[in-house]
Amino acid sequence: MVLLRDGIKSAYPGTRVDDLVVLGSETDTVDQAPVIVPPQKPPMSENPPRFIIIGAGSRGRNYAEAAVKASNGLITAVAEPHDYKRESLGKNFIWGENEKPKEGQSFSHWADFVTYEFERRRRVAAGEENVPEGVDGAFICVLDEMHRDVVVALAPLGLHIMCEKPLACSLQDCLDMYKAIRQHSSSKIFSIGHVLRYSPHNILLRKLLVEDRVIGDLNSLVHTEPVGWWHYTHSYVRGNWRNDKTTGPSLLTKSCHDIDLILWLLCSPEKAGQGEPHLPSTNELIGCTLEEIIRAHAMVFAAEEARHEGKVLKWDEWWANSVAKDM
Ligand SMILES: NC(=O)c1ccc[n+]([C@@H]2O[C@H](COP(=O)([O-])OP(=O)(O)OC[C@H]3O[C@@H](n4cnc5c(N)ncnc54)[C@H](O)[C@@H]3O)[C@@H](O)[C@H]2O)c1
Repeated sequence: MVLLRDGIKSAYPGTRVDDLVVLGSETDTVDQAPVIVPPQKPPMSENPPRFIIIGAGSRGRNYAEAAVKASNGLITAVAEPHDYKRESLGKNFIWGENEKPKEGQSFSHWADFVTYEFERRRRVAAGEENVPEGVDGAFICVLDEMHRDVVVALAPLGLHIMCEKPLACSLQDCLDMYKAIRQHSSSKIFSIGHVLRYSPHNILLRKLLVEDRVIGDLNSLVHTEPVGWWHYTHSYVRGNWRNDKTTGPSLLTKSCHDIDLILWLLCSPEKAGQGEPHLPSTNELIGCTLEEIIRAHAMVFAAEEARHEGKVLKWDEWWANSVAKDM
């Protein structure tokens, strides 16, 4: 615990470290409630980045709140079919409690936003005056099985994109997204909601293990995902992710976080984009490129195929035949 507190102090200078308690497991006893102090909101720039939230459900609301509280970005539009959710997010984070949405701020379907944005750009190009500003990026927070259609439709707009995890529910959808994005957005950020990488304790764990090498070489790692009975029953037994025919398997929909975390700790280069990935050599998986995201998801689909068909797959061969030829 002391090690963790000291590490957090150096990783987050200025943080009220006494308020930070890192729980090792749900059964740990601690002398105070866990309080994570959010990073301080940086000063606003003259031209703050503007974002749309697509899907104002649980995640969409979380990102809107985090963006407004802890970043210098602006949430300037929302696309959501459910009137109450759309209005509520809009009033809280975009147009204000007693105001009505202005042009370009509120859409009841992501496709309406795409249509509007193409038309808005056409008006700007035609020299029309007083056209509202567009957005720089999109948070895609619709359910898993919709990610593909939204990403592919948004790709020609060349926005920065944060797409929730998992990338998609089938390998073909992942490849469609890869091709669409690669074609249009080479200078933009495409990220995926593997949020465990940003938890203070995981940042510290990686610093200690990978950068400071406090225990030397890592030979093995045991990781448990304590989903929690309430989350398991409401999400993976009877909830949105109850059936791998309508969404993805739980290895993908829940444990892609864990797979990402393990690869991030064991395989990715110390600094993203610099240096060689760690062995095993066929698993040069996690950095932050689109190719790496595809590779990590493909590994889950390969595991699922092997499980369904009761056979052992050779990763190199499977990758070459099922994925590489289409990329
Ligand atoms: N990163 C994480 O830790 C984490 C945690 C939970 C969920 N997720 C992922 O986030 C995504 C969203 O999950 P959630 O729990 O917020 O679901 P949710 O059901 O609360 O939100 C999804 C929203 O999308 C809206 N929507 C449906 N059709 C739409 C359309 N045509 N246009 C715009 N919006 C539309 C729905 O009305 C709903 O409000 C999923 O992919 C899920 O797997 C990630």
